[in-house]
Amino acid sequence: MQLHLVTFAVGLLFQAVVSVAAPPSAQELAAFLRGKRSFEERDGVKRTIFEHRATSSKMDFVENSGVCETTPGVNQYSGYFSVGGTKNMWFWFFESRNDPKNAPLAVWINGGPGCSSMIGLFEENGPCQFYNGSSTPSLNPYSWNEYANMLYIDQPVGVGFSYDSAASAPTVVSAPFVWTFMQAFYAQFPQYENRDFGLFTESYGGHFGPGKFSQLFHFSNSAIKAGSVTGQNIDLVALGINNGCYERLILEKSQIDYLYSNSYYPLINASTHASLLHVLETNATAPLEKCANGGTDAECVFANVNCILNVDNPMGEAADPNSTLDWYDIRQHGNNTVPPSTYINYLSDPAIMKAIGAQINYTECPNPAHDLFSSTGDPEARSQLPELSAVVQSGVQTVMFAGDADVVCNWFGGLVVADSLDWHGKKEFGSKKVENYTVDGAVGGTFKNVDNLSWLRVFNAGHEVPYFRKWPWIEEMRVVLTVHVEPALALQVFKQTMQKKALRHT
Ligand SMILES: *[C@@H]1O[C@H](CO)[C@@H](O)[C@H](O)[C@H]1NC(C)=O
Ligand SMILES: *[C@@H]1O[C@H](CO)[C@@H](O)[C@H](O)[C@H]1NC(C)=O
Ligand SMILES: *[C@@H]1O[C@H](CO)[C@@H](O)[C@H](O)[C@H]1NC(C)=O
Ligand SMILES: *[C@@H]1O[C@H](CO)[C@@H](O)[C@H](O)[C@H]1NC(C)=O
Ligand SMILES: *[C@@H]1O[C@H](CO)[C@@H](O)[C@H](O)[C@H]1NC(C)=O
Ligand SMILES: *[C@@H]1O[C@H](CO)[C@@H](O)[C@H](O)[C@H]1NC(C)=O
Ligand SMILES: *[C@@H]1O[C@H](CO)[C@@H](O)[C@H](O)[C@H]1NC(C)=O
Ligand SMILES: *[C@@H]1O[C@H](CO)[C@@H](O)[C@H](O)[C@H]1NC(C)=O
Repeated sequence: MQLHLVTFAVGLLFQAVVSVAAPPSAQELAAFLRGKRSFEERDGVKRTIFEHRATSSKMDFVENSGVCETTPGVNQYSGYFSVGGTKNMWFWFFESRNDPKNAPLAVWINGGPGCSSMIGLFEENGPCQFYNGSSTPSLNPYSWNEYANMLYIDQPVGVGFSYDSAASAPTVVSAPFVWTFMQAFYAQFPQYENRDFGLFTESYGGHFGPGKFSQLFHFSNSAIKAGSVTGQNIDLVALGINNGCYERLILEKSQIDYLYSNSYYPLINASTHASLLHVLETNATAPLEKCANGGTDAECVFANVNCILNVDNPMGEAADPNSTLDWYDIRQHGNNTVPPSTYINYLSDPAIMKAIGAQINYTECPNPAHDLFSSTGDPEARSQLPELSAVVQSGVQTVMFAGDADVVCNWFGGLVVADSLDWHGKKEFGSKKVENYTVDGAVGGTFKNVDNLSWLRVFNAGHEVPYFRKWPWIEEMRVVLTVHVEPALALQVFKQTMQKKALRHT
């Protein structure tokens, strides 16, 4: 897996606000209901084409490729959604292994920004995983489609298997694109519509999730209700964020504190800790605050670059002078081997690509997509606290959880964010003590809930929480693991949240 931290910190040279495109009009959406279905065979593979004439949007996908999900009777669809023919967004849908007709539907989106959601599918919570670094996948008993219908989407276009065949003028319009896709998806697959919808994401998803996605998905429903937009209500009931980055200033301070006082081992000493905090406070804070409080793009660009030069770079040099640290899991030094990215080779196999209907070579976190965020893209120096507060206040069951071996979007910062949210439960949440979170009696972390907000620290897990488990070869790397409940824990967290319930130990 690529080091997203580095690009996250270093790539942010430019900032700009992205305006969310208006949702499709009533006429456009009504046309979704008049879709036209046809079948085609290409390269010996049968494909379903589903067209919406009025929007010129199209789904072009393979049914039941037999790849990854091999549980008998569990349907899967993989392929593309396109609007206007040039932007082709890759999706991979797996029916729930249990009661798919009634199971809720959840979308998984990885962060980056600009990373493929195949990371989540194959390294974290999908139906198959590459255990022990194997070159072929095997079934994951903790797959999230044990409980829900799962949809993995590569966004923005340009990431993973998604591609823009007219990439001359790229734009980051993912949330509206994905919302439109959901409308088409429900038209093609009416058997999955009208049910609870969950959005689960990770890392930079702390921006995507509460930001453009929840705002558009959740708050479009009132426009639908008011009759100004015609479409399927998408009933966002759950938002889950795994090791999220939400707010730059909180993040910076949390990284400095984490490096000094995490539960594994200190990576900086007391004097470095103090001097980094000092420079953050005296030099980087004012510009970051200016940016966060409605600053201009130019002010945000300055705040960002200034913070990188004066805080991030010295922090990196002090904590990781030899550039060997895995910032996503401080228990590892070296070549960032856990989770292994074996799946990439698998997805590069022409036979597999053909079977699933992939049209281009896979790239996990392509630089052009990331640069898009840096140059025209998401405002990383801006805060997502108001958006997350609004989502929580509106009654969406929200869980923020974090593996405690990750520096990048670490649990120190996640807790500060959770305690700072502005909603009716703020006071109670802030003063509440954490308790043990157990899975079948095994302690996997500590958590607290108030009403519809849950926060959880996961012990012995890096950035990609659902991956982690006790493997002998992790121990060989001298990783100290006292519990091994993470894949089960992540599934339990997912289930409870999708059930619109606060976390509870079992
Ligand atoms: C991974 O390897 C260990 C032993 O090396 C074995 O016990 C375990 O079953 C393997 N897991 C899978 C899913 O193959
Ligand atoms: C931060 O330090 C840089 C020099 O490294 C300086 O140019 C900048 O003006 C300082 N900013 C503040 C707010 O002190
Ligand atoms: C703290 O660490 C820095 C290097 O990161 C080193 O230069 C400094 O001497 C250390 N200070 C103490 C008191 O050990
Ligand atoms: C960095 O490498 C040098 C030389 O190999 C070694 O002496 C030192 O301990 C390393 N430092 C860290 C923090 O790994
Ligand atoms: C990283 O991998 C390279 C070759 O793949 C190897 O030579 C090197 O020793 C590895 N580094 C560490 C710190 O494990
Ligand atoms: C995709 O990868 C294959 C090798 O695996 C290569 O032959 C082919 O040229 C690549 N296609 C593109 C468009 O880069
Ligand atoms: C959670 O939000 C829902 C609204 O979606 C509300 O009905 C419910 O009372 C909330 N639960 C709690 C415990 O506040
Ligand atoms: C929480 O779990 C820890 C072990 O991780 C245990 O030592 C402690 O007693 C537990 N606390 C409670 C209140 O059960």
